[in-house]
Amino acid sequence: MSIKTLTSLLFLGAAPSALAWGTLGHDTVALIAQKYLANDTVTYVQDILGVSTSTYLASVATWADSYRYTAAGKFSAPFHYIDAEDSPPSACNVDYDRDCGAGGCVVSAINNYTTRVQDTSLPATERLNALKFIVHFVGDIHQPLHDEAINIGGNTINVTFDGEDTNLHHIWDTNMPEKLIGGYSMSDAQTWASDLTGEIDNGSYSGEKAKWLSGIDLSDAVSSSMTWARDANSYVCSTVIPDGVDGVEGKELDGAYYDSSITVIELQVAKAGYRLAAWLNLIATGSTALKVKRDLRVAQLPNSYMPVRKGRGLSAAKMAREAFGHKC
Ligand SMILES: *[C@@H]1O[C@H](CO)[C@@H](O)[C@H](O)[C@H]1NC(C)=O
Ligand SMILES: *[C@@H]1O[C@H](CO)[C@@H](O)[C@H](O)[C@H]1NC(C)=O
Ligand SMILES: *[C@@H]1O[C@H](CO)[C@@H](O)[C@H](O)[C@H]1NC(C)=O
Ligand SMILES: *[C@@H]1O[C@H](CO)[C@@H](O)[C@H](O)[C@H]1NC(C)=O
Ligand SMILES: [Zn+2]
Repeated sequence: MSIKTLTSLLFLGAAPSALAWGTLGHDTVALIAQKYLANDTVTYVQDILGVSTSTYLASVATWADSYRYTAAGKFSAPFHYIDAEDSPPSACNVDYDRDCGAGGCVVSAINNYTTRVQDTSLPATERLNALKFIVHFVGDIHQPLHDEAINIGGNTINVTFDGEDTNLHHIWDTNMPEKLIGGYSMSDAQTWASDLTGEIDNGSYSGEKAKWLSGIDLSDAVSSSMTWARDANSYVCSTVIPDGVDGVEGKELDGAYYDSSITVIELQVAKAGYRLAAWLNLIATGSTALKVKRDLRVAQLPNSYMPVRKGRGLSAAKMAREAFGHKC
């Protein structure tokens, strides 16, 4: 166990240490989003948060990972992922009806909290929680192993990274991002966010960023976030386990595997931040950018809270998840 793992265990009591995208990834996603928020969105978001520091969005980005381990927040544990029951590496896909479990998933959660943050009849604390959930879950859905059921999202695939015994899920959340940046403080996240916004504005992502917003539609949060889930899940086949579980199980991955994975991690963190900004701009202003005025908002309210489906038997993958728990 690393010092850091030990520290987080002490902070969270008996909670498991697995944080989806670690602190570094979630803070970076939020800082990238901050840069692309329209001015009206900044006002909207800061009013709900009651915070206007330079890290106003990043300061709430990991709240959901602590909340899930409290008695009050236990219900939200399945909202951090969608366990896609596909067949990597030969076939990657996500199917909402097949994969979103009876207790909900990251897609139903983004839908629910998008509705709730806009519902001015709710108490302020509920709208605050809704916003904090959105900031976190738009990050989570971009981590490929949050969109994959195999070995409980890679949690039971043992690997080593730089000599440390860990698992495949954990190195995607934490070890690989931290190896790239060298730490996980807010200033490390600011460094990474600044690199990635440079790539988005004028660098290697400038030509593709417009495509990142295709399929985005505030009136259909399920189909919008399913687009993001399918995009992330496709990397399970191409990059996460291109040679199947046997290709990584028991191996040291701090070499060629890191080199191929880190480019996908950077891309996914950049997309998450950019899409989060567009989503919050839609919520606050009715437009992904600052073009349309607020009165359009009412017409674009999502029309339903997604009901959780009942009455289906649990698949083998969903039973394995129940037995494992809802970590990551
Ligand atoms: C947004 O706010 C910034 C900082 O307050 C200001 O410099 C900028 O002109 C504003 N942009 C628009 C489009 O109002
Ligand atoms: C929506 O969010 C509320 C508040 O967190 C929660 O009580 C409810 O179960 C959620 N509904 C769904 C369908 O996820
Ligand atoms: C993986 O590691 C855990 C914890 O160290 C251990 O309990 C488990 O048996 C290992 N699984 C495999 C398949 O080696
Ligand atoms: C990079 O892009 C941003 C936003 O599109 C622009 O304001 C800035 O001038 C560009 N910088 C360079 C060096 O091209
Ligand atoms: Zn999470």
